[in-house]
Formats: sequence, structure tokens, C-alpha cells
Amino acid sequence: MNHFELKGGELHCEDVPLAEIAKAVGTPVYVYSSATLERHFTVLRDALVGAGLKDPLIAFAVKANSNVAVLRTLANVGAGADVVSEGEIRRALAAGVPSERIVFSGVGKTEAEIAFALEAGVAEINLESEPELHLVSAVAQRLSKRASVAIRVNPDVEAGGHAKISTGKAENKFGVSLAEAERLYANAANMAGVRPVGVACHIGSQITDLAPLEAAFRKMRALVERLRAEGLGVERLDLGGGLGAPYFNQPTPPEPRDYAAMIAGVMDGLTGIQFAFEPGRMIAANAGVLVARVLHVNERPEGRKFLVLDAAMNDLLRPAMYDAYHDIRPVKPRSGEPLVYDVVGPICETGDTFTRDRLLPPLAARDLVAFMTAGAYGAAMSSEYNSRLLAPEVLVRGADYAIVRPRPNYNDMLARERAAPWL
Ligand code: LLP
Repeated sequence: MNHFELKGGELHCEDVPLAEIAKAVGTPVYVYSSATLERHFTVLRDALVGAGLKDPLIAFAVKANSNVAVLRTLANVGAGADVVSEGEIRRALAAGVPSERIVFSGVGKTEAEIAFALEAGVAEINLESEPELHLVSAVAQRLSKRASVAIRVNPDVEAGGHAKISTGKAENKFGVSLAEAERLYANAANMAGVRPVGVACHIGSQITDLAPLEAAFRKMRALVERLRAEGLGVERLDLGGGLGAPYFNQPTPPEPRDYAAMIAGVMDGLTGIQFAFEPGRMIAANAGVLVARVLHVNERPEGRKFLVLDAAMNDLLRPAMYDAYHDIRPVKPRSGEPLVYDVVGPICETGDTFTRDRLLPPLAARDLVAFMTAGAYGAAMSSEYNSRLLAPEVLVRGADYAIVRPRPNYNDMLARERAAPWL
């Protein structure tokens, strides 16, 4: 469920016509719905709490959408933050996420980032390897602190999704094996700079089937029980993110309540654990669209119709990078027979193709289109490739909207660079 609907023949975000935003802010532009963000968060939390998981820590994966206004919207309804860099910690703090709801993950944290996280007082640092355990302990000791850590386990489960976003197989770079986790946890318990508080896993993204998650979670429960049997305290079990979003025309992800019921079943009888989650996509994807304008309809003599947009792969990388499918909807659909289009951006490479052979209502130059389900890994993955300005971001709440990241200008772009002294 999201809040992008046709009203009076044109696509709205909540009560604001997308055309109005496009007119005021220009295109391409990302538009987010506060109500959808809040709804997705509360549906997940209510499902988890309803299934009997008390006081879950739901740490929104900031990598999915790192706009501070988006993070604040979620923080206001109780979300924490799952972060993977100092920049993301700073964004979460700037958005008002309390440090005790911040979880710091990632395979390659630098010493400076670890120190920053400890000074900020994050709830937990998820460790991905033995060298990282030693590094965190050393940095914490230097700062006269004791870091609460969780060991990220790679449960060796295959979890659908695209090969580039699957993380839970043994061959991936993430986490340590179950056996290794037991050994590291016991070591950590004897180290001065760290306090092991739990174990964590995250097996992949855009998962549309509960079975691999269930298989991984069973292994995690068994690990908690083995650690406890060795006399080690375990307080937190971080089950990661990964639940898919409905991309239209694609496999449908499980409902939050079925996900929660599965977890409650797997964890039945396990006491004294706070469950943590790191959802990104399922919260933000359907809460955002990328609005673009049609520059030309380029009809080739051999029959192909290219819809050339003012948005490109630098604005929305997912189709080029993962062959991802995004539903494309005209903002004011015209009547008439649907036509087959190749939808492309203006960047000078063939990869700048959003889709080929897509059946769409008829479109003409200057029409607006919306890429749906673009609120996660859309703006967050955008770049200035081809020296294109980053698309602005707009947050809607009811009948109001605010520009929460303005479009930069070319002077700013050029001012970031310097001539070398010999030039
Ligand atoms: N936790 C960890 C440790 C992660 O690595 C990720 C995502 C998440 C949580 C959030 O996963 P989610 O709930 O959003 O599936 N750029 C790709 C997705 C990359 C996901 C990377 N890790 C895409 O556009 O599909």
C-alpha cells in the first residue's frame, strides 16, 4: 500500500499533484510520501510486536534512503538507524535518531569511523571479521570505552534476489561462519575493549520468499543457544533486513505479519532477547517516485520508439546495474491504445536504458512520467555522472510539500574543484 494514486486523472503523492511539484521544482525530481514511510514502519512494528516480539529495535537501513528529512520522519515514529559509514552516523544523528538506536554495520570500517561511532555512543557495532574485533577493541581501549558488539554471521543460505545483492552465501564477503562466530564471541568476552551483546545476520535484499530467511534464523537461534550453553550472555539477535518490496509485475514479497509470525515461531521459547531488524527497501521503496519529463519521442524508421527522458542512469541506477524493473506511469495518462517504448536517458552509453519494449499509454514530448518504487536505493545511489546535477528531493505530507534537498547549481559543482598549481 502506498500513497501515489490517480485522482481526477492525474497522479498524486498524497494530496499533492506530481505535476505541481514538477512545475515548481523542475525534473528529474524524487518525491517521497511521509504517510507511506510511516505506514510501512508502523505496519512492520505492529506485526512484530503483535507476534510477541517485545520492544524490537527497528533500525532503518540508511543506505536505502539517506535523506535527513526521510530519516527524521522515521525517527519520529520510533525508528532507529542501521548505518555503514561515518557519513551515515552523522545523518542519523542529524535526523534526531537517538544513538542508542543506531547499529553500525559494514565490512570495512576505518579506525576513524570506529572512534567516531564510539564517541557518538552507538548501540552496537556489528563485527564482520576477526581483525575487526581486534581493531574495535583496541580503539575502544584507547578511548577508555567498552564497545557493545555483535558478531555478524554468514549463515550460508542462498536468498534469491539479484547476484549483486545476495550476501548470505559462504562465498560472499560478509560476516563469519557459525563456527567462527562461536570462537570470536568467546574471545570477545575476554577482551577489555569490547562487550559481546549479540549476534547478527543479513542474508540479502529483495527477498520474496520466507524459506531462506527461516533457514537462516533457525541457525541463528541454535547459535544463541550454543553460546548460552557455554555460559556466554546473549542479549540481542539482529535479524537484518532484506524483505522485498512489491515492484509490480515482479514476485510479491511476504506480508510483514507472515514474516513476524515466522520469526515468532522460530524463536518460540527463547527468552531474554531483544530482536533487532535492519529493513531498508520494504520501508522506503514504495514511499518514493522519480518524476521525469519526456524530452522526445524518437521514432525510428524500423519501428522502435525511444522515449528519451530528462532522467538518466545517474539519477536511478538500478535498471542499469541490476536489470531492475520499475513500473513507469504517466503522470497524466492520455487515452488511446498503449504503445511499445524503449525508455532511455540522455547519457552517452547504451546502459542508460531504463527498459526495452515496455507497453505504456501513449506519451508525447513534455509529458511527465513517474518511476514507481524508487524511494529505496534511488537518490541514495545517484551520482553526477556526465556532470549532471543531482536530482532534488521533495517530501510530501498531506497537502503540503517541502524541498528537502534542493537541486544544486553548476557554480557549486565547479566550485568543488581546484586548479593544480602548475595549471
Ligand atoms: N543490513 C545490511 C547489513 C545490509 O547490507 C542491507 C542492504 C540492509 C540491512 C538493508 O537491506 P534491505 O532491507 O533494504 O533489503 N542497491 C541494491 C540493494 C543493496 C542492499 C545492500 N544491503 C538495490 O538497489 O537493489
